[in-house]
Amino acid sequence: MEAKPEKNVLFICGSLREKSLNRQMGAYVAKLLQGKAKVRWLDYADLPFMNQDIEFPAPAPVRRARDEVMAADGLWIFSPEYNHGIPGGLKNCIDWLSRPLEPGSQETALKDRLTLFSCAGGGAKARYCAADLAETLSLVQADLVETVHTQVALTRQDYTTDALVLAPAEETALQAQAWALLDRLA
Ligand SMILES: Cc1cc2nc3c(=O)[nH]c(=O)nc-3n(C[C@H](O)[C@H](O)[C@H](O)COP(=O)(O)O)c2cc1C
Repeated sequence: MEAKPEKNVLFICGSLREKSLNRQMGAYVAKLLQGKAKVRWLDYADLPFMNQDIEFPAPAPVRRARDEVMAADGLWIFSPEYNHGIPGGLKNCIDWLSRPLEPGSQETALKDRLTLFSCAGGGAKARYCAADLAETLSLVQADLVETVHTQVALTRQDYTTDALVLAPAEETALQAQAWALLDRLA
């Protein structure tokens, strides 16, 4: 019997910093998916700011990011909250991914794309970013995996050591999301 091709999951981190605690949350999820799906991270730091004057033809970094997203069976966004909202770089990336591939086309990189998100932030658990992501991803017709997304409360220790320690309930929530994703990918 032919083996089923391995599924590809693309991770997007809302934080560009090297020691990002959200990226560490993604690394925890990558371990959960090991052997079940192939994971890679989208590098989107080179995207220009969204500007409709340069939309068509799309700039090369935009085409590359869209190609990576469209080659993925699922997308998983890990993001902090910046000033009660989605970090600007991530919002800019989502804005590019939400636009038609060609003038007049209905097709976008995000439309119908299986998508999940998890947010780690301060005491309020990045709730504004999580709410904004839910709103924006629904608006752009991403196919949000129907689980409650995970919100992680970063502790003083996480901040001072730059090493994420997940509470058991947070691990359980991320596991539930991972199993829901694998279910949808099966
Ligand atoms: C510009 C900026 C704004 C921030 N605003 C918020 C905020 O509104 N709510 C919050 O919980 N944390 C806020 N923070 C703190 C981040 O949650 C914290 O720096 C977090 O560690 C960033 O995620 P990362 O570790 O993945 O880079 C902000 C940080 C920055 C740099």
